[in-house]
Amino acid sequence: MSSLLEKIDKNRLPKHIAIIMDGNGRWAKEKGEDRLFGHYHGVESVRNIVEGCAELGVGYLTLYAFSTENWDRPEYEVVGLMELLVSTIRKEVESLNKNNIRLHVIGDMSMLPEYARNELNEALDITRENTGLNLVMALSYSGRWELLNAVKNIAFEVKQGRLQVEQINQDTLQHFLCTSDFPDPELMIRTSGEYRISNFLLYQLAYAELYFTNVRWPDFRKENLYEAIADYQNRERRFGKTSDQLEESETPV
Ligand code: IPE
Ligand code: IPE
Ligand code: MG
Repeated sequence: MSSLLEKIDKNRLPKHIAIIMDGNGRWAKEKGEDRLFGHYHGVESVRNIVEGCAELGVGYLTLYAFSTENWDRPEYEVVGLMELLVSTIRKEVESLNKNNIRLHVIGDMSMLPEYARNELNEALDITRENTGLNLVMALSYSGRWELLNAVKNIAFEVKQGRLQVEQINQDTLQHFLCTSDFPDPELMIRTSGEYRISNFLLYQLAYAELYFTNVRWPDFRKENLYEAIADYQNRERRFGKTSDQLEESETPV
């Protein structure tokens, strides 16, 4: 069987792919297992997809791992997820480094237990100099939290006299988001058959191509990623313009 990889145009890859890794709990339930069993298996998909993106040469991969709303899940699940996060980072940091992958984190780190924060900070430090794939983990993250945070920080700058209201533009807002160092995602993938954004990158996804698949996250592998990228490459990104305008600008003069 030939791989979908051959269908992908390496010169037109999305620079930034964002993924809502959904469906772990249902995957486990369908097997008569506990939800945490699904989360454990989800880690294998993370490993596979990170590797797939690094091999392709994708610049940025953002993974939605835990939302601010997920704190309201049953305590055993929240604790299980935190422990899984810490043990995974501990196990994987060496291979991230070996593959020149730089780890980033976006989200409300103050909500994380201290042991998780320490582990993350260490991994951020260890991978800081790497120049390959940028792996952005969205942890205790939500788009509304991020925007609220940005508004507060901008207001503070104005109050301190360091910023004039008239100076505030889209670049200012961008600068105060957690993602100020990253380009906007061009492709957003959600697994497990849910058709919603669930408070993910609300500002940054303005013109992202959205791709939904029924595959549950623990079953998601490189081939599924290639399928999503091939689908993305078949779309016309118009950014508010007409099809004719795009064709005109492509025609060499
Ligand atoms: C995604 O899987 C992982 C997290 C949100 C942490 P879910 O745990 O949401 O799985 P479902 O959607 O209940 O199947
Ligand atoms: C979104 O999934 C958050 C993550 C994948 C981390 P949820 O499972 O929490 O979203 P809803 O509740 O189905 O919208
Ligand atoms: Mg879910």
